Amino acid sequence: MGAQGFGLEILHKDAHCQARTGILHTNHGDVKLPMFMPVGTLMTVKYLSPEEVKACGSGVILANTYHVSLRPGADLVEKMGGVQKFMHYDGPMLTDSGGFQVWSLAKNKGITEEGITFKSHLDGSTLHFTPESVMDLEQKIGADIAMCFDECAPYPVTHEYMEQSMERTLRWAKRCLKAHTRQDQALFGIVQGGAFEDLRNRCAQELASLPFDGYSIGGTSIGEPREVEYQMVSYAVKYLPWEKPRYLMGVGSIDMILDGIMKGVDMFDCVLPTRLGRHGALMTSHGRLNIKSARYIEDTRPIEEGCDCYACKNNFSRAYIHHLIKCDEGFGLRLCSIHNILRLENYDASNESTYYYTTNDVTLATGYASGKITLN
Ligand code: GUN
Ligand code: ZN
Repeated sequence: MGAQGFGLEILHKDAHCQARTGILHTNHGDVKLPMFMPVGTLMTVKYLSPEEVKACGSGVILANTYHVSLRPGADLVEKMGGVQKFMHYDGPMLTDSGGFQVWSLAKNKGITEEGITFKSHLDGSTLHFTPESVMDLEQKIGADIAMCFDECAPYPVTHEYMEQSMERTLRWAKRCLKAHTRQDQALFGIVQGGAFEDLRNRCAQELASLPFDGYSIGGTSIGEPREVEYQMVSYAVKYLPWEKPRYLMGVGSIDMILDGIMKGVDMFDCVLPTRLGRHGALMTSHGRLNIKSARYIEDTRPIEEGCDCYACKNNFSRAYIHHLIKCDEGFGLRLCSIHNILRLENYDASNESTYYYTTNDVTLATGYASGKITLN
């Protein structure tokens, strides 16, 4: 039996590819799929209030178990009534398990069958994550969706290494299922297997036979060539149950999102829009606009004509935003983050025309423009 109050309702399936639209029901409201989830690592999307994130159309905010468990600690969050109450946000949330963050941030990692030992990137203290301890942390934090504890192996590794790693991730997934008892929280399995077709297939098939509430594809966007990344998604998604949500982890580039949508992926997350925004890199229909460039010093136009975001709608000029970003002013970082999040949120899958104004990938844009995607 799945988590209480959680479930996917598929509304439309595309006639020419696997793309679909739907509604994800959660205990903190319904969200439209496909969707992009902005990252709020430490229980805040940097510089933005929960209301502002919501106003960008975001359905779900993602937080990181690794960071939250280090500071302020999952026990404290639980004591404060759970993550949503603590951060004063009444929409749905998802926590990543730390399987990726441990590898990308922590030092001196050691992996055994039991779990991963690592040193905190904050104070160097030695910590230990196991599937059971991570389930305990995620249940205490209390998001609507928890992720299994997995090993995100680097790229490239040998088939032999990847096979062992993937098999261990599968055993961990089973331990996560056993340790996860919270009825009002959904649990997603994570497909690993690197760039190997047989391993991705097997991992997806095995996970699909287990009673997860949804399935995600991990181990992508970690330095592999784009063509390999496209393949990894294809290998994995093929064996995932149609009636459950699919989530491509850590993917925020427009072309990967569009490719994922065409293959039947429903959910995406990435720090990209907010991180780019904070560096003054703005996502527009004409590609990236670097607001720091001197060419915008006297530019009175908004970031993008026709954009519905707070910054563009209210005609904050490029000149003003250029000035703010040059001075590292918080308000400038906010305006840029808001614009970029809205750009990604604006995938209205029922309206094909919204697909290509945000993309800077010409090939895919042409694909959409030529009617490859015709959701209705
Ligand atoms: N975020 C991006 N990639 C991954 C992954 O492979 N595993 C987890 N847990 N999180 C991720
Ligand atoms: Zn805008």
